[in-house]
Amino acid sequence: MCEAASAEGIDIVSTTAYRSYAFQKDLYEYYVSTKGQEEADKVSAKPGSSEHQTGLCADLSTSEIDYVNGSAFGDTAAGRWVAEHCHEYGFIVRYPDGLEGITGYTYEPWHVRYVGTVAAGEIHNENITLEEYIEENNIQNVDIVEPQSEGGE
Ligand code: DAL
Ligand code: ZN
Repeated sequence: MCEAASAEGIDIVSTTAYRSYAFQKDLYEYYVSTKGQEEADKVSAKPGSSEHQTGLCADLSTSEIDYVNGSAFGDTAAGRWVAEHCHEYGFIVRYPDGLEGITGYTYEPWHVRYVGTVAAGEIHNENITLEEYIEENNIQNVDIVEPQSEGGE
């Protein structure tokens, strides 16, 4: 995906993909200490429940915003390219704007999740979330996040 974007003059890098339980725990605790738990829970998954622990997602950034992570990505050329094209490579923008009531998290234009091109295409075309896609298709026994316990690296 990044190579395809690059061929169109769009620079996309993955800043974080797989995270261990310990890494997610430190990150979550940092948010709790700076924002309080209620706000932390809107932006960060508890350790053991982050998609980042599955290795199926990535946080993206671009030179236009000096490779920082954050909501500014959505307004960059790279962010717009990702929103339009990532489904062609099997990814979805996992936490869309205004749908935190469904996904549980505030808008993350930088966080893409791999679901394969078929599901990603349908999710993109119908403009729905992964939660709605799973419900609509009556998909059973799918953990959106695969829990991992402390001790797993
Ligand atoms: N920021 C996302 C929700 C995570 O912590 O996995
Ligand atoms: Zn992320």
